[in-house]
Amino acid sequence: MPAIEITQLCKTFKGKKKALVHALQDLNLTIPAGEVFGFIGPNGAGKSTSIKILTGQIKASSGVAQISGIPVTNPQARKNIGYLPENPSFYPFMTAREYLHFVGQIFKMPAHEIRFQTNRVLELLDLSQAADRPVKGFSKGMTQRLGLAQTLLHDPALYILDEPMSGLDPVGRALVKDIIISLKQQGKTIFFSTHIISDVEAVCDRAGIIVKGRLTALEDIKNGIIPEDESYILQFKTSHGDLESHVVGKKQLNDTILQAVARGATIERIEPQLKNLEKIFLSTVTTGNTL
Ligand SMILES: Nc1ncnc2c1ncn2[C@@H]1O[C@H](COP(=O)(O)OP(=O)(O)O)[C@@H](O)[C@H]1O
Ligand SMILES: [Mg+2]
Repeated sequence: MPAIEITQLCKTFKGKKKALVHALQDLNLTIPAGEVFGFIGPNGAGKSTSIKILTGQIKASSGVAQISGIPVTNPQARKNIGYLPENPSFYPFMTAREYLHFVGQIFKMPAHEIRFQTNRVLELLDLSQAADRPVKGFSKGMTQRLGLAQTLLHDPALYILDEPMSGLDPVGRALVKDIIISLKQQGKTIFFSTHIISDVEAVCDRAGIIVKGRLTALEDIKNGIIPEDESYILQFKTSHGDLESHVVGKKQLNDTILQAVARGATIERIEPQLKNLEKIFLSTVTTGNTL
């Protein structure tokens, strides 16, 4: 059963002067269990709207969203998820430790488990030193890290994170990437939104691009790259010493190499042509072509 299944999801808001805003238009997306999925889109694309529907904060206008087969309108769907909102905010008078304790109680964790997990996640997010300080003195990065800490507290199977790297410095971002990779190694599912493409390339199995409420691309990512199966970059030096580069389809690769060698050329480089996520992103944003 998929961790997340979104079918024909639509959301229309009433904007200013009752103008309709079509935030999601026929969104379809299936996230298998164990996948790290990056949901990329420009500002206003519909990322947070999708996430708010998945976490039961707002209702879809039409369509269905399910978590582990349970419709998101059923609170049971939220039992086993860790959720980081776009701009996490906390009661300013509470300390980080008190807040995590409070979250543990909401999830009905036993007291000894809350104590153990609180120390574990504070350590993991480099907040142990600040654990007993009121949250009101926290920097943006510390607040974001506390938001992530509370998603990890009850050790859920699915993480829904709205821009988890936002507001973090490079050290904080590297930390969050490491946490995502370690969660994946534990078999967890992670669905996160972002507009930072390099973060997606670094940690995701798959990326979906959303523009104006519609999915415009869905790409598999292997070791930070999207392989383009069909073509290769072939570079050779001609018998006159000139360097030539050609993009050659998979079927023609063998013949092209043989012909070049027969003409006295030396092969310098054969490389699969790679798709670049940033290029795909920019082209789908400008053309608006959908899947
Ligand atoms: N409560 C709301 N009322 C009216 N319009 C909204 C509301 N929430 C979001 N929108 C609109 O829906 C669109 C998608 O927003 P959002 O999902 O927040 O985008 P993203 O997270 O990708 O930046 C935007 O045009 C936004 O202005
Ligand atoms: Mg958003």
